[in-house]
Amino acid sequence: MNNFTSSLNNKNKFLILGCGFSGSFFAKTIRQLGCTALTSSRSEKKDINNFVFNSENNVVPNKKIFDGVTHILSCIPPDKNGKDPVLRILKNKLESLSLEWIGYLSTTGVYGNTKGDWVSEIDHPNPFHQRSHKRLNCEKEWIESGLPVQIFRLPGIYGPGRSTFEAIKNKKIRVISKKNQVFSRIHVADITNAIIYLLQNKNSLKFYQIINIADDEPCSQLEVIQYCYDLLDLKMPKPILFEDAKEALSPIAQSFWMENRRVSNKLLCETLGYKLIYKNYKLGLKNCYLNS
Ligand SMILES: NC(=O)c1ccc[n+]([C@@H]2O[C@H](COP(=O)([O-])OP(=O)(O)OC[C@H]3O[C@@H](n4cnc5c(N)ncnc54)[C@H](OP(=O)(O)O)[C@@H]3O)[C@@H](O)[C@H]2O)c1
Repeated sequence: MNNFTSSLNNKNKFLILGCGFSGSFFAKTIRQLGCTALTSSRSEKKDINNFVFNSENNVVPNKKIFDGVTHILSCIPPDKNGKDPVLRILKNKLESLSLEWIGYLSTTGVYGNTKGDWVSEIDHPNPFHQRSHKRLNCEKEWIESGLPVQIFRLPGIYGPGRSTFEAIKNKKIRVISKKNQVFSRIHVADITNAIIYLLQNKNSLKFYQIINIADDEPCSQLEVIQYCYDLLDLKMPKPILFEDAKEALSPIAQSFWMENRRVSNKLLCETLGYKLIYKNYKLGLKNCYLNS
């Protein structure tokens, strides 16, 4: 665990826009540091710290929600037209606040297919899928907004409650093999902790507007699934070749297999000095196994 000093404190108020899997983990952790964190969802929740924001039907948060906000983390994906929902609806409001920082969770899909090569932040984005073009457009909108935004490009997110174990338990697992295919991943705790590390050290570290958060070891999906079966002490079903399996996959599932890249974390972990909690899928999945 990285050591947090006290530069984030109860004077900081965070709005977590889009409090799904990553947002909830971040909100929980930032509160433990003494900060206030209000979270949004598209429908009402029984949680006094939650408010409704839904760009699909223009439900906008009450003005009071924004009082004293210092930090915003947006975890909301692009809308169907490739616009950023937060900027489309709340840009003027955000400009009127004295914000210290905005974090935007993006995806490493913007790099496109590198046929297994490493990609880093200095590589030109080369989106392949339509959804990644939309994402790159949202990144551009955030950068051009002139707001104090930092963009985090994320590969496949997993953690307790959302991992291969759930797929096995719910009988949704597909054991597919495709030669030389790798995926990068990140444990949800490392997304939160990396961001907090950067905020805690904001004054001493050089500011980078775009940062990948990925673990050290991109690898095949098969290795990950095999490891989960081993932990469960169960026999893994025989893998099916991708070519034989692809017809039965949904278009979205197929699309993930059409890109092959290794996401570099050197900027975050070497240049900026963040120490991953879960350096690889084995460490991360052990945590999921113990907390599922
Ligand atoms: N999952 C992955 O492996 C992965 C990988 C790379 C990047 N990402 C991206 O990283 C971000 C966080 O990922 P995640 O998996 O933690 O997300 P998530 O669990 O799907 O949460 C997304 C949040 O956005 C809210 N939201 C969606 N559309 C909205 C709209 N039009 N207006 C207002 N709120 C809206 C959802 O509201 P409700 O709570 O009401 O549903 C939810 O709280 C997302 O942008 C995601 O696309 C995800």
